[in-house]
Amino acid sequence: MCGIVGYVGPRPVLDVLVPGLTHLEYRGYDSAGVALNVGDRIEVIKTAGRMSDLEDLIGYFEGDVISGVGHTRWATHGAPNSVNAHPHTDASGDAVVVHNGIVENWSELKQKLIESGHEFRSQTDTEVVAHMIGDLADLPLVEAVRQVMNEAEGALALAVMRRSEPELIVGARRGSPLVVGRGDGENFLASDIPAFLEHTREMVVIDDNRVIEVRPTSIRLMDLEGNEIEPEHRKVEWDFEAAEKGGYDTFMLKEIYEQPKAIADTLAGRVSQSGRVVLNELEMDDRLLRAIDKVFVIACGTSYHAAMMAKYAIERWTRLPVEIDIASEFRYRDPVLDSRSLVIAISQSGETIDTLEAARYAKAQGANLIGVSNVVDSALAREADAVLYTRAGPEIGVAATKTFTTQLVAMQLLGLYLAQVRGTLDPGAIEVMVRDLTLLPGQVEEVLEISDEIRRLTGQWSDVNDYFFLGRSGDFPVAMEGALKLKEIAYVRAEGYAAGEMKHGPIALIEKGVVVVGVATDSHVKTKTLSNMQEMKARDGTIVLIAENGDDVGDVADHVIKVPEGRDLLCTVTAVVPLQLLAYHVATAKGLDVDKPRNLAKTVTVE
Ligand code: G6P
Repeated sequence: MCGIVGYVGPRPVLDVLVPGLTHLEYRGYDSAGVALNVGDRIEVIKTAGRMSDLEDLIGYFEGDVISGVGHTRWATHGAPNSVNAHPHTDASGDAVVVHNGIVENWSELKQKLIESGHEFRSQTDTEVVAHMIGDLADLPLVEAVRQVMNEAEGALALAVMRRSEPELIVGARRGSPLVVGRGDGENFLASDIPAFLEHTREMVVIDDNRVIEVRPTSIRLMDLEGNEIEPEHRKVEWDFEAAEKGGYDTFMLKEIYEQPKAIADTLAGRVSQSGRVVLNELEMDDRLLRAIDKVFVIACGTSYHAAMMAKYAIERWTRLPVEIDIASEFRYRDPVLDSRSLVIAISQSGETIDTLEAARYAKAQGANLIGVSNVVDSALAREADAVLYTRAGPEIGVAATKTFTTQLVAMQLLGLYLAQVRGTLDPGAIEVMVRDLTLLPGQVEEVLEISDEIRRLTGQWSDVNDYFFLGRSGDFPVAMEGALKLKEIAYVRAEGYAAGEMKHGPIALIEKGVVVVGVATDSHVKTKTLSNMQEMKARDGTIVLIAENGDDVGDVADHVIKVPEGRDLLCTVTAVVPLQLLAYHVATAKGLDVDKPRNLAKTVTVE
């Protein structure tokens, strides 16, 4: 989720790059940099921190710049420091690269480059691309980039410059966004429209698996075989704010729709062709993981619901006992921890003080700590013995959406990895689940298509102030998250409850006018959940059911929302998406600001 800007044309280059990057800061903001082609050399200026930090450094630069590329980073490989900040250069400093995405086979490519004498300065996957381009100095730049695109796997959006061709920037795209802004005698290359919207509304769409040459007065687009392609021109109709939100009304909706990509990024390079989970990045000794005799998962808010799912997954797949705790409660119950305990702390931000303090406490008791965070090098990441990043990209909406589904996927990966290391699931069973994990991005895409259906449904509920979300087993955390989303952004009372527990009290609250949303995807308990929903229907509740395609749910529900058939627990990822949309449509129908709900902060750093 980094931001890329490139410019070739007559304007002072920094006057385009700096505001362009500032407009892209919402895409990532842990470090930033520019590369300026001044003809006899390429000058790179980069730093950890925000654009304002970069601007302070740029203030010292003097010289005539012919073209330039810039980058705001959201770290995926390597800490957010000035060495890992983009742009990255080859050994000679003649070729320079900025990149958004993940080079999945980077460690293999890096090994080859090291063997042929290359020395690496950063811990990034991107530097591999810079060295590869450097090795292809005899080829025209566009050919070199095409070759790299054919060798590098994964999501890549690139902007590349060479000292010897100062009036040229070459872009490439696969899986990560990149567009061209067309000016008069000037052209722009960017990850997103806001970077150039103040200069031009003319743009060229770049499809996946394309390489593009951008010069001041021409652009040339080609596929990865080198065949020339006719560019598709478009006019941007959005205003600036809409462009920042990618045309969506809110960041929250944009982030809901980013989930297929975010989940694909979470999985990238972590599952092998042969159906194994590859988490080398954990750097936790297998012997240690085999010696663990108890797992604790701690988190707050939405992340706690990922912890709930993790308990089911780890217990089911590894047979290890798992306790879960709301982080703010953990320390005060005097948990029994020792060197055979594994504590997994889940925090999107990695800065939530309740989670951090609980994690520190666990470590002080001698437990092993894995941090699961969306922010590279966050306080939790630094505290932990090992880290698993969720790679959802920055989330601006206060209510967590893509960071939750990616937490679910990360915890499923971790659960399967533990089962693999400890030998508690046979390789065939892991292979089947790994395959099903890779289906999730497409399945979430399918669920997103029913947004209008959900909007029409919730349109009937303007007077409803009481909601229940019910589920059992793996569906229980989904129900909890559905209720939390609605509370957070629509300000209505919504309870998440274990469906089977309703009869022990809360059923007294069910009457006409109460909406009861049941989640029934977990095969162990589906029929039991349906019976529980019958009990709600008998008390005149309005019943909505989240069920899998192909399931016969009889006449229990007033409305059935279907999600693709999936494996138990993996299905949590698809089942929660309609509930995010449900909360979203209820809140927006009330005219509420879903991106900044009242009384809430994205990251809470007080106890
Ligand atoms: C805040 C946010 C919630 C979030 C919780 C935990 O309360 O409003 O959306 O789930 O913090 O955040 P974390 O960054 O630790 O996952």
